[in-house]
Amino acid sequence: MYQQQRIDYVKALRILKGFVEDEKIIAHSHAVYFAAMDDALKCNMVGISCNPEEVSIGGLLHDIGKEWRIEKNPKKGMILDSPINITNLNKKIKRIVSDPTTIGLYDEPDIHPIISGEILQALRLPQYADMARTHGFAEEVRKTYGINGDFLPRSIEQKIVANADFRVINTNFTSVDQRISCLEKRYQERKSWEKLENLQNAIPRMKALEEELMRLWSKNYYLRMYVDDVREFVENQE
Ligand SMILES: [Fe+2]
Repeated sequence: MYQQQRIDYVKALRILKGFVEDEKIIAHSHAVYFAAMDDALKCNMVGISCNPEEVSIGGLLHDIGKEWRIEKNPKKGMILDSPINITNLNKKIKRIVSDPTTIGLYDEPDIHPIISGEILQALRLPQYADMARTHGFAEEVRKTYGINGDFLPRSIEQKIVANADFRVINTNFTSVDQRISCLEKRYQERKSWEKLENLQNAIPRMKALEEELMRLWSKNYYLRMYVDDVREFVENQE
């Protein structure tokens, strides 16, 4: 078992840029970084222990596997201080999925949360790996494709990152409902039917997660006032 190492924002961003070049993904990762930090602070305010810095770094790194291609990007990760063994990483990913040639940003199946988790695990950052592999629709993809593993967010850190990502469209802070509508539209336009099905299967879980966290934060009267303000603000933007 690896010893957990914490990294700061500067190092995390350098690592992220070692694997992701698309500025839109980098920008989205920053939005999730801030959303996760905000949510972790709200947890702290109602007496739930979680480290805002660690959770926000988890948010920054959650999509690190989005550009990974098994056969096409042999140089990815090489700018790191401690380059990972890419051959071993690819072997591991190949063991997880049956058809690795289909992995990709706009391909199906979309297993980027699982790849993100494997990259971070290979970098010996297991706590961030746990947050990355349980975001998005990893659990629904697992069921659809018969992948082994547990991809449900279970710890408070995993739940915060998954929910923060569900509330951010590109770089815009929004609600889970708006994110669902936006993704439905995007997948229909791209005719990504498998992604659409995974999204639809995930909707009850996405909403339940948001409600669970809202209930948790609303236990505190003063915080509830703050949360209500944010909700009103978001609704006025619609
Ligand atoms: Fe993602």
